[in-house]
Amino acid sequence: MTTPLLTAGTNYVYQTDAERFLRWLPSNSVDMIFCDPPYGHNNNNGDLIQRREVALGLLPNAGSNPRPIANDGIEANELFKSILPEFKRVLVPGGVCCCCCGGGGGPDPQFARWSLWLDEVLEFKQMIVWDKGPMGMGWHYRRSYETVLVAQKGGAACKWYDESNRIENVIRPNVGISKIIPQANDHPTTKPPELAEWFIRLHTRPGELVIDPFAGSGSTLVAAQRIGRRYLGCDLEEQWVALAKKNLSKPYTLPLFAEATA
Ligand SMILES: C[S@@+](CC[C@H](N)C(=O)[O-])C[C@H]1O[C@@H](n2cnc3c(N)ncnc32)[C@H](O)[C@@H]1O
Repeated sequence: MTTPLLTAGTNYVYQTDAERFLRWLPSNSVDMIFCDPPYGHNNNNGDLIQRREVALGLLPNAGSNPRPIANDGIEANELFKSILPEFKRVLVPGGVCCCCCGGGGGPDPQFARWSLWLDEVLEFKQMIVWDKGPMGMGWHYRRSYETVLVAQKGGAACKWYDESNRIENVIRPNVGISKIIPQANDHPTTKPPELAEWFIRLHTRPGELVIDPFAGSGSTLVAAQRIGRRYLGCDLEEQWVALAKKNLSKPYTLPLFAEATA
């Protein structure tokens, strides 16, 4: 396999495996990683979205499994753990990895396990709660937040560019980062680009390089593009790479926090 030439200024999304993609990158070359690996929840394999689509007659039955995510079973844990040494190698000293990690609920305490694994390789910094606002009625503890685990590579002070001194470890609903309810042709677990944008602003400066090795629909890369960061990403699945490229080619829309760039 020929190593692609990843030059400064390259903005691209590859169809390949995350670990292979990371191996293409030089050591100490990445300013920030924002990623959203498969959680291992077998998303859309009979989940709420799929049951809703069945109820609406959009799918024949709940077992039809139309939009599964690759590696979204028990293997997700091993996948996440195995790429952490590469995360450390490619990050610049003080560079930050922000990793989406679902809610804090059981039965699998994934937020705890992934935090410990991050801390074994990088330096764990915070678990951020993204409060998505009230949910409708439902079973026991409704999942109205997701977490983003933040860790830094040692060897330098954590890259941090906020000047307001008001950034909390909770992202409140009133900042305007709205959850996305995926439609039939969407990626099943699309994150709002504004979520990535929130963190990219905190941990990088314009022109710096942000990567996402689990790019999906490309929300991280779209956020980086909007606010003038360089970006690289990959996804295993051809359909999501195509979707990410489509999203990256859409006409420029203003970033959520436009006033902060003024
Ligand atoms: C949770 S989704 C990411 C969603 C994305 N944040 C978005 O907003 O659309 C995880 C993605 O990882 C991809 N994936 C799974 N295993 C992978 C691997 N080994 N290498 C690269 N991508 C992988 C899946 O195809 C899926 O699109």
